[in-house]
Amino acid sequence: MTCSLGAIPITTPFILAPMAGGTDLPFRLLCKEYGAGLCYSEMIDCRGLVSQQRDCLELLLTNAAEQPVVMQLYGRDPATMGEAAAILSEHPVAGIDINMGCPMEKVVQTGAGAALMKNPRLAEQIITAVCKNSKKPVSVKIRSGWNQHTITAPEIARIAEGAGAHAIAIHARTWSDGFTGPIDHEVIRQVMESVAIPVIANGDITSHEQGVALLKKIGCAGVMIGRAALGAPWIFSRGVNQHPSMAYRIKALQRHLELAEIHLAPEPNLSKIRNHAWKYFRGTTNGPAVRRQIDAATTYPELRTCIDTLAEQLLRQ
Ligand SMILES: Cc1cc2nc3c(=O)[nH]c(=O)nc-3n(C[C@H](O)[C@H](O)[C@H](O)COP(=O)(O)O)c2cc1C
Repeated sequence: MTCSLGAIPITTPFILAPMAGGTDLPFRLLCKEYGAGLCYSEMIDCRGLVSQQRDCLELLLTNAAEQPVVMQLYGRDPATMGEAAAILSEHPVAGIDINMGCPMEKVVQTGAGAALMKNPRLAEQIITAVCKNSKKPVSVKIRSGWNQHTITAPEIARIAEGAGAHAIAIHARTWSDGFTGPIDHEVIRQVMESVAIPVIANGDITSHEQGVALLKKIGCAGVMIGRAALGAPWIFSRGVNQHPSMAYRIKALQRHLELAEIHLAPEPNLSKIRNHAWKYFRGTTNGPAVRRQIDAATTYPELRTCIDTLAEQLLRQ
């Protein structure tokens, strides 16, 4: 099945997963430059959007170069989710996603995120409200279920399709699995059998080749990559060595920093960018020492100088 979101075609089926604190505009632009077909934003609290809280409004930052982009909403109140969808769909986004997978205590205890996997009625009300109020196509990002005894993904996917959703992304783990343990390909298949809309598989894809293999193996419409893209946006590029040279890593990081300087004010974003920066050295022998140096930078120029100095040192070795 080809990948699309409503009428919007997705040119390549490799998709950047939503990650709070990670998938801001500079990182999405970078992943797009490396070949991502579609990028998802960080999750946005529907109440914050409706009440125009500054931190939520800042998450709406986008531009033409990153299109198509999907922005994600979370919440537990159907009316507020509907209102937030109406606001968001006036923005230049290609689509709106509903978060039904976040396992964080502060989210699930309100009944939002992954808690919706055990509350199909409320899930239906929320999806219906978002679809009715959105002028843009809607996707729903789900988990396999709440725990191994309540695998509700096929049922929730059916409900989502019936309520008007245009695509399902599934992180094939339950809430109780958190972010570890094996990915359940069987439940992805069951979701694909339950609906006619595109299904995007997510969880533990750690290389481009693995994504291609999964697309072939289960025939899903797309693959969504989260953690493995952090500090490694080249995962979206076909044919690139997944353990590239230091020079290649540093070039990607320098471009990332350039995009951050263009698009994000240093306050309050610098710590987030430092957190991205050291990940480019993950798994290399210099990793821990590099992290200490990066964490010491207190301004963008300092961070840039630090990276340039590291480049000189590391490329000489
Ligand atoms: C730091 C971090 C932040 C995340 N934030 C979100 C989020 O805002 N919305 C969401 O639906 N999932 C979020 N996730 C889950 C990812 O989108 C993805 O489903 C999960 O990490 C599994 O995919 P992966 O193995 O490719 O990382 C987050 C994951 C991480 C590690």
